[in-house]
Amino acid sequence: MRPLDTNRQPATAADSRRRAPTPVDTPRLPRDAQYTAPMTTAATSRTSFHARAEGILANLKATGQLKSLQMIEGPMGPTVRLKGYGEVLCFCSNNYLGLANHPEVVEAGHQGLRDYGAGTASVRFICGTFAPHERLERRIASFLDQQAAYTFVSCWNANEALFPTLCEPGDIIISDELNHASIIDSIRLATVIKKGLHKTVYKHNDLADLRRRLEEARAGSDVTGVLWVVTDGVFSMEGDIADLPAMRALCDEFDALLIVDDSHGRGVMGPTGKGTHEHWSMPGSKIDMFTGTLGKALGGAAGGYIAGPRAAIDLLIQRGRPTLFSNALPATVACSADKALEILQREPQRVQRLRDNAAYARAGIRAAGFTEIESPTAILPIIVHDTARAIAMSQKLLTLGVYVIGFGFPVVPEGHARLRVQVSAAHTREHIDGLVGALRRL
Ligand SMILES: Cc1ncc(COP(=O)(O)O)c(C=O)c1O
Repeated sequence: MRPLDTNRQPATAADSRRRAPTPVDTPRLPRDAQYTAPMTTAATSRTSFHARAEGILANLKATGQLKSLQMIEGPMGPTVRLKGYGEVLCFCSNNYLGLANHPEVVEAGHQGLRDYGAGTASVRFICGTFAPHERLERRIASFLDQQAAYTFVSCWNANEALFPTLCEPGDIIISDELNHASIIDSIRLATVIKKGLHKTVYKHNDLADLRRRLEEARAGSDVTGVLWVVTDGVFSMEGDIADLPAMRALCDEFDALLIVDDSHGRGVMGPTGKGTHEHWSMPGSKIDMFTGTLGKALGGAAGGYIAGPRAAIDLLIQRGRPTLFSNALPATVACSADKALEILQREPQRVQRLRDNAAYARAGIRAAGFTEIESPTAILPIIVHDTARAIAMSQKLLTLGVYVIGFGFPVVPEGHARLRVQVSAAHTREHIDGLVGALRRL
């Protein structure tokens, strides 16, 4: 059964159908919950909206899905200071290489602030392109063996720019069912903007199903243009990875482009942290285009990018709506991200430390009696089955000084609730022993 979280719903034809707005539109609820629309006799838009919003929130609370935000009162690191809990061990951030608060990364941001000020105050094509953008983009392109790169304020934005800009009617996008929400939404948007652009979803990491979709695309008369296959490099909920060599072979056989979002793989996978392709001993040039975030291993700040052929980047500059109508990545952030990437290139041993830490944590978790999904990444999902149990365990861990998030239905399939442990190169053995000790006490 596939996850039902709105973040991860596969793009289906039904999803992209436009719904006529109604004065009191029934919100989309988990299928196990009922929502009763409020009386509308004398309803104004304001009262209707409030009743609807409160109904949704009450339903989330009743079904145990209401998220609460923890307040962090200091920098992101292997430990963080949490309001109400004090200093806790942090095993739920994407700060894989420990660069989020690295002195050089912070100082590069300070210097950027002094040199370029706080805001870009413009989109890139008007007067918002600064020297740090170009420097960072050159570094990203060369790191990934691609001709060019272009940055965005987030990888969400980068993904949202990619398909609507580069695809045309007659093309087809073929997407893994567990791809990130930003890929799914980009595909939905692209098929709305470009009528006659097709989409299909293949079963998670299922190469036989991918082959079937490619065969169908080639056999049908509707697909007259480019075939696009898109996958996450590392899948964030499972911690598993895409089989890129096999996917490349299939794409070559069917003459399709291969696009990889390696947001969780960059800085983590492969001997020098280039990403999932490096894990598979593939040069970056074997992937047609990459997208990725600057907000995880690479500095933990923010931002995203697309790296690929010069012509694709030029098209994005000319026609990408997030490029043309949204401000540039702040120069300070570009400076920090550039420094983070420089540190990764200079100190590839960080990647090995991360790998050693993940192996040490995995062994400890198993020795403590928990079932953890085998994975070559820094994401260690501990299966606890029941959603309420996952949430209760996560809350209990916090009182024991360990910050780990529990994910349950509908983010993951029913019965597959889990604690998701994320390891960092900045963790020491003592930190990891602290995690394992707390798990034992559970
Ligand atoms: C695969 C993937 N793509 C894109 C994103 C979005 O990245 P950003 O936070 O830069 O928008 C994420 C973040 O969770 C991700 O895991």
